[in-house]
Amino acid sequence: MTLLSCATIVALVVVVVSVAINLSFDAKLRKYWPVPEWSVEDIPSLEGQTALVTGANTGLGYATSLELLKHGAKVIVATRSEKKGIDTVKRLQAEPDLPAKYRENAIAPKVALELSSLKSVAEFAEYIKDTEPQLNMLINNAGLNPLNFSLSEDGYELRFAVNHMAHYALTLALVPLLEAGAPARVVVVSSLGHQFAAKDCFDFSTLNDESKYEMMPAYGRSKLANILFARSLARKVKDKQIYVNSAHPGFVATDFGRELVDMAAEYMSRENAESLVKSVFGAFAMSPQDGAATQLFLAMPEVAERNITGEYYVPMARKHDSHFFALAGGASPEALDDELAEKLWQWTAKETGIDL
Ligand SMILES: NC(=O)c1ccc[n+]([C@@H]2O[C@H](COP(=O)([O-])OP(=O)(O)OC[C@H]3O[C@@H](n4cnc5c(N)ncnc54)[C@H](OP(=O)(O)O)[C@@H]3O)[C@@H](O)[C@H]2O)c1
Repeated sequence: MTLLSCATIVALVVVVVSVAINLSFDAKLRKYWPVPEWSVEDIPSLEGQTALVTGANTGLGYATSLELLKHGAKVIVATRSEKKGIDTVKRLQAEPDLPAKYRENAIAPKVALELSSLKSVAEFAEYIKDTEPQLNMLINNAGLNPLNFSLSEDGYELRFAVNHMAHYALTLALVPLLEAGAPARVVVVSSLGHQFAAKDCFDFSTLNDESKYEMMPAYGRSKLANILFARSLARKVKDKQIYVNSAHPGFVATDFGRELVDMAAEYMSRENAESLVKSVFGAFAMSPQDGAATQLFLAMPEVAERNITGEYYVPMARKHDSHFFALAGGASPEALDDELAEKLWQWTAKETGIDL
């Protein structure tokens, strides 16, 4: 009960209700929607284009990688061990709907990307810069929301370090490659969970203080940081023809459920917890293929052609305020606050020692 305070439980209930509304329209009632503005069937040929996807070994990252490969892109799968990268490439190459001519386009880097370590991020980025001449798409997808508090290798609250700081450092290190691949697209995968960030969440004095830790506000802070980072970066690299946007993928049946199992297992047997989470996902959640659509859209050449940058999109590939039912995952007022975005940028630049 200490870990799950009242505020966390209320936040969880609100998340579940909003998610339930959102996913009803994402998954079950989609036939009643107006025709979607965009679907994966609209992906053009991506031959000659290179993408890098973080968290590519499972869930949304895997589905995103597969879809990009199917359309001819070269896809660098960033994972937290070299073995995971090799296994992921093998699984992608064995996918029945991946045309044989594109199988060799799945690339496992020889260096791992462990996002809880800024040193690992720097080494990975150096390797990519040494081996790739250009990058057209960067999908900052990896993320986590563990039940318990812990610190990254560099001493920062883990999910803030992985979800925000590491992706900030990775993206800035890769800007020269993105510039070489311009018009390039960067996608930062956020969440409707950004709405659970506390008002003063960027008062960083309590970031690494376990006694102030609450799970959902901590996740919310990291996901709000994703949106604000995308807004700031979009402004700062506009003249380099790098287009940067953030996305809420929807409620998607991925390995993200492992945290929910851990939470439910505090109140019931692990077996019952697994079956409960499985039923909830089965009843409501989108498939990873459908969930990947919004981040895929933001990686498309069309985004540059239409000058879409600094925006936040929700399922299915819609700008946050373009559809009533998307309100469940819409941007909070803080997510549209450029002053807050700059404050976050300055803090992150100082702590990581990296700036443009
Ligand atoms: N699923 C949803 O309903 C949902 C909703 C809103 C937003 N999102 C966002 O979608 C993104 C993808 O999540 P998902 O649903 O696909 O979850 P997932 O299946 O759990 O995948 C998360 C990915 O992130 C990687 N990752 C986690 N910590 C890492 C670290 N320290 N270093 C390197 N990689 C790390 C994981 O690698 P390992 O397998 O090695 O741990 C995995 O590949 C996340 O940013 C999440 O916040 C998901």
